[in-house]
Amino acid sequence: MTDWVPIDLSGMAYGRKPPTHDALLTEVGPGTPCGEFMRRYWHPVTLSERVTATPQNIRILGEDLIIFRDGKGRPGLLYPRCAHRGTSLFYGKVEAEGIRCCYHGWLFGVQGHCLDQPCEPGGGQHKDKVRQPWYPLQERYGMVWAYMGPPDRMPVLPRWDILEQVEPGYKLLVTHSSLYAGGDDDVELVPCNWLQEWENIMDPFHIPILHTSFSGVQFVPEMGVMPSVNWEYTGSGMQYTAYRKLDDGREMDRITVAMFPYVRIVPNVQLTEGPSGGVGWVVPVDDTNHRLCIIMKVPESVDRLPRSPNLRPWSKMTPEERQMYPGDWEAQVGQGPVTQHSEEHLATSDKGVAMLRRTLARQIKAVQDGQDPAGLIFDAAQDLVRVPAGNYFRKG
Ligand code: FES
Ligand SMILES: [Fe+2]
Repeated sequence: MTDWVPIDLSGMAYGRKPPTHDALLTEVGPGTPCGEFMRRYWHPVTLSERVTATPQNIRILGEDLIIFRDGKGRPGLLYPRCAHRGTSLFYGKVEAEGIRCCYHGWLFGVQGHCLDQPCEPGGGQHKDKVRQPWYPLQERYGMVWAYMGPPDRMPVLPRWDILEQVEPGYKLLVTHSSLYAGGDDDVELVPCNWLQEWENIMDPFHIPILHTSFSGVQFVPEMGVMPSVNWEYTGSGMQYTAYRKLDDGREMDRITVAMFPYVRIVPNVQLTEGPSGGVGWVVPVDDTNHRLCIIMKVPESVDRLPRSPNLRPWSKMTPEERQMYPGDWEAQVGQGPVTQHSEEHLATSDKGVAMLRRTLARQIKAVQDGQDPAGLIFDAAQDLVRVPAGNYFRKG
């Protein structure tokens, strides 16, 4: 045993304050400030191909819902508790005109209209008075999109320039893979708050550390060059340009974009030159889980997101390997179900994270004040979103 007397006992873990998170920025349930802000946009709910005559449970923005496709091909998103006496429509049967509850057979159309009440006189003379709560849906890019906000503020579902031009030999791959959150193709639910993933997009300084020096080269060695970064606000969110002078003398600008409410557009991590090939959405499932939606241009023969050859299949890694070679999953899920903002010490390199939180808070407050948040489109003729994200070499 050694006599060890610490000189300075300040900073001990004993007696520290209970940690707290920033509820305004993170909580998304109905009626919360951030939840109301989010409900002003269209949300990617699930893949079109998964919406069938078999009802599915869907959790999004803290709401439990049922999604199905009626016999005429129309998708429907309904509140699950039957308007009659509350049985879950998960056990319903889908027919040509809608979904029929298993208990007493009330039939609901995709817009919640009650179309039949077989136990009632005349098939339900007052069925018009009943409406199963529902949300409007649209389908585009192989994805089903929902609007879950106030009826009088419904915007246009945007188109994305990089997804509208699919060159011959290419297709759009649509997936809920968590690969880009550090997980895997067959893992969809990421068990942490959506903002941990979204703000990571504005944190270019984790790339040379986490993805290069700490865990070995997970993308390409050039990512290990410490960038000089310029963050800026845009009308619909923010973006940064990371400038790197590479060892071979080439100079590269890497432009990464975050758009409201949770869009992430990241250029190719192998530093392939050109515009980003896809768009991602960090969809809040609830306050402590999220699910990515990635829509990406890939060669027709490709069925999964391109994986960096240096990244091991995450679901096959042992806990010890994840300690040795952590990636985005470990870093972000490691912050906890909702990170404790009261314990943070933001530094110079967190400028993008701080800016993103600030602009997010401004949009949430704008909605609280009765205004529209930024980035909504109400003119169907102006529905194309142009995205500047990409890797670009400076010409000598
Ligand atoms: S509970 Fe659904 S029809 Fe009775
Ligand atoms: Fe990362």
